[in-house]
Amino acid sequence: MKLPTTSRADSVEKAMPDTSGDSSEPEHQSRREVLNVRDLSVRTDSGLQLLDNVSFTLGEGERVGLIGESGSGKSLTALSIMALLPDGVQAGGSVQLRRPGRGDDVAKEMVGGRERELSQVRGKDVAMVFQEPMTALNPTMRVGKQVSESMLIHGTRPDRRSAYAAAVALLDAVGIPNPAEAARAYPHHFSGGQRQRIVLALALANDPALLVCDEPTTALDVTVQARVVNLILRGVQERNSALLFVTHDLALVASICERVIVMYGGRIVETGPVRDVFTRPQHRYTQGLVGASDVRKTDERGRLTTIPGTVPPAGRFPDGCVFRNRCSHATASCSQTPEWTPTGDGKGHACFHPVGEGHPTAERGA
Ligand SMILES: Nc1ncnc2c1ncn2[C@@H]1O[C@H](COP(=O)(O)OP(=O)(O)O)[C@@H](O)[C@H]1O
Ligand code: SF4
Ligand SMILES: [Mg+2]
Repeated sequence: MKLPTTSRADSVEKAMPDTSGDSSEPEHQSRREVLNVRDLSVRTDSGLQLLDNVSFTLGEGERVGLIGESGSGKSLTALSIMALLPDGVQAGGSVQLRRPGRGDDVAKEMVGGRERELSQVRGKDVAMVFQEPMTALNPTMRVGKQVSESMLIHGTRPDRRSAYAAAVALLDAVGIPNPAEAARAYPHHFSGGQRQRIVLALALANDPALLVCDEPTTALDVTVQARVVNLILRGVQERNSALLFVTHDLALVASICERVIVMYGGRIVETGPVRDVFTRPQHRYTQGLVGASDVRKTDERGRLTTIPGTVPPAGRFPDGCVFRNRCSHATASCSQTPEWTPTGDGKGHACFHPVGEGHPTAERGA
């Protein structure tokens, strides 16, 4: 697949890769499964439902974007996959990880697992790049040692010397200048963009089957964002690792991902191939997101399109369809929870009045 440059595009369509006549990508269905999330729920100890019935899979080497406004549940989903949820919240359901064809192709359950077993999976089968690089780095350890220790802990290099050499090579691969010298420096010696590249080296050190990135470039200077995204892409493509890329930047998803999952109110509201979802969204929330991402789209008074209203705080979403207090197509039936409707080719949505079915005027008044 030809990847376009990852600079911020003024519309998602412009950023979309040209996949016409491109048969080099295996179909999602035929790929071996790396991640299987089933009925994942997250609740606070006080009973607030933060994630509800979240289910999806990722295939080997597949790149999937997870999008939604701030407060939709993206980070909680990413943290659940890593079994790194904060104190005070509990996950239910199932998150299973596999390393297909790598000798230890056994499903590992991340929900309710014992810390000793989870720590053997984290950093090896699955790794994560957070928004803020210092979250993942130890400020008191030289960066070369941090990367090499991760390989030694997981037994992916036979000894200290080869692990350290591999760490320097990884720092070089993520574009850290003078990697041998840099390996002896502490995290505070580096700029924000360089620190995020070091975190990426750490995340890729054991060739994870899945890399989870949660807004990895949001905290970085715009001039280095595209470079970091390209390094992430190269890193996963070289290893055939799956990528779950959490962002609110639709143009970025359009340029790097094959499939997209749209979240709102702690639920998945739509999923499908990027091109389909972004050019023909079905859920009314996705329609709003796509409209709001296109700087060419203005209303009759020349203002940029936005989704009306704001995301409610956790526990304050309406019952039934979580989007109904902001949706101009809501009807009385939307006070029930919409069922998941598969529409073929890995696509689906949960909306009573999807785009293309006209305005439900007859039933209005919810
Ligand atoms: N530890 C927590 N305790 C209570 N509420 C939380 C906690 N973590 C996140 N939330 C709430 O859950 C919702 C989803 O959060 P999050 O997954 O961080 O959203 P996103 O990453 O999409 O912006 C938000 O309303 C957030 O305030
Ligand atoms: S189910 Fe109803 S309220 Fe929810 S997005 Fe669809 S039309 Fe709007
Ligand atoms: Mg977040």
